[in-house]
Amino acid sequence: MCGIVGYIGQQQAAPILLDGLSKLEYRGYDSAGICVASDGALKVAKAKGRLANLSSLIDGGKAVEGTVGIGHTRWATHGAPSDTNSHPHVAAEGRIAVVHNGIIENYLKLREMLSRRGKTFRSETDTEVIANLVEYYYDKSKDMLDAVRKAVARMEGSYAVAILCVDQPDIMIAVKKDSPLIFGFGEGENFVASDVPAILRYTRKVCYLNDGDMVVFTKDHADFYDSLGDKVVRQAETVDWDLSAAEKGGYDHFMIKEIHEQPKAIRGTISPRIKDGEVVLDDIHLTKDYLSQLRRVYVVACGSAYYVGCLAKYILEKTCRLPVEPVLASEFRYSEPVLGEDTLVIIISQSGETADTLAALKEAKRCGARTLAIVNVVGSAIAKAADDLIYTWAGPEIAVATTKAFSTQLSVIYLLALYISRLLGTLPRQEYNAILHELEHLDQKVALCITDDNLSKLRYYAEQYYKVHDAFFIGRNVDSAVCLEGSLKLKEIAYIHSEAYAAGELKHGPISLIEEGTLVVAVATVAELFDKTMSNVKEVKARGADVFGVTTERFADEIKKTVSSVVTVPETHPLLQPSLSIIPLQLLAYYIALMRNCDIDKPRNLAKSVTVE
Ligand code: G6P
Repeated sequence: MCGIVGYIGQQQAAPILLDGLSKLEYRGYDSAGICVASDGALKVAKAKGRLANLSSLIDGGKAVEGTVGIGHTRWATHGAPSDTNSHPHVAAEGRIAVVHNGIIENYLKLREMLSRRGKTFRSETDTEVIANLVEYYYDKSKDMLDAVRKAVARMEGSYAVAILCVDQPDIMIAVKKDSPLIFGFGEGENFVASDVPAILRYTRKVCYLNDGDMVVFTKDHADFYDSLGDKVVRQAETVDWDLSAAEKGGYDHFMIKEIHEQPKAIRGTISPRIKDGEVVLDDIHLTKDYLSQLRRVYVVACGSAYYVGCLAKYILEKTCRLPVEPVLASEFRYSEPVLGEDTLVIIISQSGETADTLAALKEAKRCGARTLAIVNVVGSAIAKAADDLIYTWAGPEIAVATTKAFSTQLSVIYLLALYISRLLGTLPRQEYNAILHELEHLDQKVALCITDDNLSKLRYYAEQYYKVHDAFFIGRNVDSAVCLEGSLKLKEIAYIHSEAYAAGELKHGPISLIEEGTLVVAVATVAELFDKTMSNVKEVKARGADVFGVTTERFADEIKKTVSSVVTVPETHPLLQPSLSIIPLQLLAYYIALMRNCDIDKPRNLAKSVTVE
């Protein structure tokens, strides 16, 4: 949510800002703007809607001269998407310009205080308060650093902010708390941004700022201060992936590219962690003594990562014999979870920045529980805050609707299941070996789900179903959790009303909604429950539903006796089967969205990284 780019150098800033913002589009936004300091003025251009609107307004940036600037894509929180509410915001006297990601919780109080002192406001945003607060203090001291420090001391909430002052156009100040911000070290130029892709074309040397950090920089120099205001050294890390990893590379959409990347991503997650027939997780420090005294495991996350948590319940309970409870991060803090030294809290997040998930992690730590994070984005807030950390190493994921991050998070759960079960001795060696064997070949089986033949099949079925208004996804056991994710995919990118139900629950309500032509996606891969799921399929068919089935090769003939539209996936260990059965559901949602002309990579109202609660 919201993207920030700041540039100081010798090149024209505006095209660089637009380019950087285009790499942050994936975060979700509904307006965009830039501000360039030049010739004793702060020149602002903003436009509601897509970045292309802003770009055409300023001729791709060429129309705005100046070598220092800040840019922003806004995902509306305070005030509707509009030109006025877009960032950057300039303070009342026109001396300070600000872009901001996050929420200033006490902005109304600050706004009243500043209004009483003569400051006027044009927008409804909390960000305009930051600009005026900095200007208020700057008016008194004429010292930028002092003014920003005083302003920050009054601000409550979350923020990544980049600030320009008309009187000192060769300096930029950026501050960060609970919202992502990186600093990019260039040659004769420096950058700040919400995420690496925004500046990767210009530098690979980045530093992930800590909470409370402030950086004061020119084109040649940067001073870093920590939360206590002490000057500190922040080392540059070298980004080892290429910009092409964050570009479409010939695919029509990032989503289909990332679907295709899943075998490689899964291999990248799993294979370095299997050595000599054992799962080796050097990155974490869970001992047998610690695990033996555990009474409960929570898995806390949002969105698709939460559905990985739902799958983790089946997988970890079966292999480790520990009670596992998946909890939505937005509910976790307020449900008074039973936390203590005997509780392990597994936090799952692609971005590592999701506000609710980060808050849940902090709450778990505050209550004395050990936290283990499964994160994709290196150096993100959750990665830094957790006691133990396992990176998914999926590479950058750009499409808002996750695919490869989901698959790699699930792969980490398998690894953890084997690792913990080995320490606790809860799995017979034969079973451990059987799962490990399948895990080592999982990437190849996932690849078999994405063959050209399968793509054409899914495209064909999408053509049959793309006009439906409602869909239901049903399955049992792990299949029911796969249904949750498949249903979410269809909702988020194809805008079709869709619900997922444990198949056995159908008769307790949802079956009343089944009528002629309702789409029911039935996932039936769990051998012991196949017949039961098929009974549910027959029940909905009898009421007119159009059923699309997903099963393993073993049950293909059986399911075809009842269901005419069927896609099969290869068979693997039952606990690993979700990694295969999710693929046709991702593809079905993708092709249906394509046929409905939806904005697949940037679905309406959604954001990749949800940094507000
Ligand atoms: C958003 C994304 C989802 C993601 C969820 C949690 O809703 O669109 O794809 O699953 O946030 O994000 P996280 O970065 O914490 O995994």
